[in-house]
Amino acid sequence: EDAQRPEAGHELVVVANRLPVDSRTLPDGATEWVTSPGGLVTAMESVMRTVDSGAWVGWAGGTGEAPSPFVADGMHLYPVPLAGHEVERYYEGFSNATLWPLYHDVIVDPEFHRTWWDDYQRVNRRFARAAAEVAAPGGIVWVHDYQLQLVPAMIRETRPDARIGFFNHIPFPPVELFSQLPKRNQILRGLLGADVLGFQREGDTLNFVAAVRKLLGYHTDGQTITVPGLGTAPSREVQARTFPISIDSQSVSDLTEDPDIQERARQLRADMGDPAKIVLGVDRLDYTKGIRHRLKAWGELLADGAIDPRDAVMIQVATPSRERVDAYRQLRDEVELTVGRINGDHAPIGRPAISYQHRSFDRRDMTALYMAADVVLVTALRDGMNLVAKEYVASRPDEQGVLVLSEFAGAADELRAALRVNPHDIDELKSSILRALAMGEDEQREAMTSLRRQVMDHDVQAWAHAFLDELESVGRDEITTRRI
Ligand code: ADP
Ligand code: F6P
Repeated sequence: EDAQRPEAGHELVVVANRLPVDSRTLPDGATEWVTSPGGLVTAMESVMRTVDSGAWVGWAGGTGEAPSPFVADGMHLYPVPLAGHEVERYYEGFSNATLWPLYHDVIVDPEFHRTWWDDYQRVNRRFARAAAEVAAPGGIVWVHDYQLQLVPAMIRETRPDARIGFFNHIPFPPVELFSQLPKRNQILRGLLGADVLGFQREGDTLNFVAAVRKLLGYHTDGQTITVPGLGTAPSREVQARTFPISIDSQSVSDLTEDPDIQERARQLRADMGDPAKIVLGVDRLDYTKGIRHRLKAWGELLADGAIDPRDAVMIQVATPSRERVDAYRQLRDEVELTVGRINGDHAPIGRPAISYQHRSFDRRDMTALYMAADVVLVTALRDGMNLVAKEYVASRPDEQGVLVLSEFAGAADELRAALRVNPHDIDELKSSILRALAMGEDEQREAMTSLRRQVMDHDVQAWAHAFLDELESVGRDEITTRRI
């Protein structure tokens, strides 16, 4: 009856929109593999390194024929193909122009188009089938993020033997916003195919449980949801839990010992004209990151004469993201106009007031940037977690540096010793930046040691084990009844 169950298969199958590597076509037509962008891959690729014969099902980027399965860094990768119209309607459309803005406080208006839903369903089914074909009997299938919310229920249909987990890397909105979604009940039922659902913040978990209670009318007891069986089938229990994600803190911290990276950090400061202070922003170019608010504050501080561009320079690293989605195109134009204006108004000749880098850097360059930065600004308007904040802390074994952190980022719940800001309050943001620039070494050390204790202990391995332990415990007894 389980048509797709393989004899052997993998004990752990990760299912995510992206593979940990993206295929990129070079000008000469050759293709190369580059690490995929974003916090999900940053976290999960380090988890998968510690699992023997783990499998990862995902999209290799691009359209048409997908590469055949291959092994990279000990991981068995199973590329899922996307046709051009599916990239447009499943990925750029339903995922990033409907769900992403709706789940991020409708900072930008979500768009609702019925054709996008058809592609979302079809692509989710393809991911579910690919996972069902490689998961070992009774194996764990761990589905990730908003692009694949129908997959848990689809896998349960053909592989009732599997233990199914789902982790939502982005916020889950209050039911008043979530209810706008025309296919809201199908999304909830898709998610409830999982045995365990993980969220970043307590608020996200509570929002999800409230939506299930209000929209589906299911019984909930705390964070346990009772899903009624169809017809005579028994009901099931689903656990909704909070697991704030993290990074491979030790390996990030170890990178700072590398003399080449230390030299790179020194060279960075020299290239900037040896300013007294370097203020760094690192973000995918996304409207949820509060980059416009950050630039507005910086521009006003320069205009007020509160900072001298020879003494304090901003570096804004903006990773290209979802460039064909309208709201992202508009954001890029606005950001680049503002950067140009501020440099035009305030930068000394030959030395930018804001050094704007619209490109990807490798992990070593990122570490050099964090080591060179006296202040890092994380001013997200809404962010599931924000791993940049944790990476900065892990990159500062010298216990110097100041983290300015938006209360709207999940990381703010754990990184209590950061300078907490409401990015919508420009005056507060300006005064916090000035406070960060003026902070003495002792005060920096006191805050950074506290932040490091948090980040070094609660790393991504601890996060993954907490999730998988919960899944093992919940799934185990369910499985025995299911097998009988
Ligand atoms: P999101 O998942 O929304 O992109 P996070 O802050 O959680 O935000 O994760 C961003 C990840 O992407 C971090 O690991 C960060 O180091 C990485 N990153 C961001 N910008 C760049 C860049 N320009 N080059 C390389 N890595 C980047
Ligand atoms: O971490 C949130 C997230 O949306 C991931 O799901 C995604 O892989 C990453 O950001 C980067 O976004 P994208 O995959 O659309 O480039």
